[in-house]
Amino acid sequence: MAMLEIKDLSVYYGVIQALKGISFEVNEGEVIALIGANGAGKTTTLHTVSGLIAPKSGSVIFEGQDITKTPAHKIVSMGMAHVPEGRRVFASLSVLQNLRLGAYTRNDKEEIEESLRKVYKRFPRLEERKNQPAGTLSGGEQQMLAMGRALMSNPRIILMDEPSMGLSPILVNEIFDIIKEVSAGGTTVLLVEQNAKKALSIADRGYVLETGRIVLEGKAQELLNNKSVQSAYLGE
Ligand SMILES: Nc1ncnc2c1ncn2[C@@H]1O[C@H](COP(=O)(O)OP(=O)(O)O)[C@@H](O)[C@H]1O
Ligand SMILES: [Mg+2]
Repeated sequence: MAMLEIKDLSVYYGVIQALKGISFEVNEGEVIALIGANGAGKTTTLHTVSGLIAPKSGSVIFEGQDITKTPAHKIVSMGMAHVPEGRRVFASLSVLQNLRLGAYTRNDKEEIEESLRKVYKRFPRLEERKNQPAGTLSGGEQQMLAMGRALMSNPRIILMDEPSMGLSPILVNEIFDIIKEVSAGGTTVLLVEQNAKKALSIADRGYVLETGRIVLEGKAQELLNNKSVQSAYLGE
């Protein structure tokens, strides 16, 4: 059984159909890349999986449980975290306050402190800046904070929406290295990216989304070698 099963999901915004019956799976331990152009439906997919948007039809099954109608905060407590597009940190709150908000569904103080230590170990820059307002961080640091905040819920799966957006090439590499580490630490990753080359280079498998439909799927290496993927998404 897959950890996450998306079945025939259709989502509308008013009369506009953003997802046209998409199905895919994420197995435990995998890094899955969902790639596609601007407007393809990537963010809509993640919002629907994490309970922020209700689909018109179809279902989302997480660890055998149907969570299609489960509220977002409950889904977080079940072990799914979402790093939103554009980071969305709370600018006026400190780095530490932002991180603590990521643990809002948890009660055990000791375990929360342990998660905080782990996040600081992975992102030493966040510890150095823990009392600074999040709005004063650079783009790359805000992305790290958004990831750290998601990790504070101690997720079994993490959904990331365009973590490389707007970052310099060096920072993009740094963020992708961190995603690899998160994966190596045992967290399953569903990664949405316009940067298809980078995403596929760290993924096990990938899906290509085009105007609300999955048009191609396969092992990441196969997609990297695929001629139509190369011309449409890899600039080759
Ligand atoms: N809140 C919204 N209201 C109306 N249409 C939306 C909304 N959000 C997204 N859309 C539309 O849904 C489609 C998919 O958008 P989105 O999921 O954001 O794509 P992506 O993340 O791949 O760029 C686009 O056509 C977009 O214009
Ligand atoms: Mg998007």
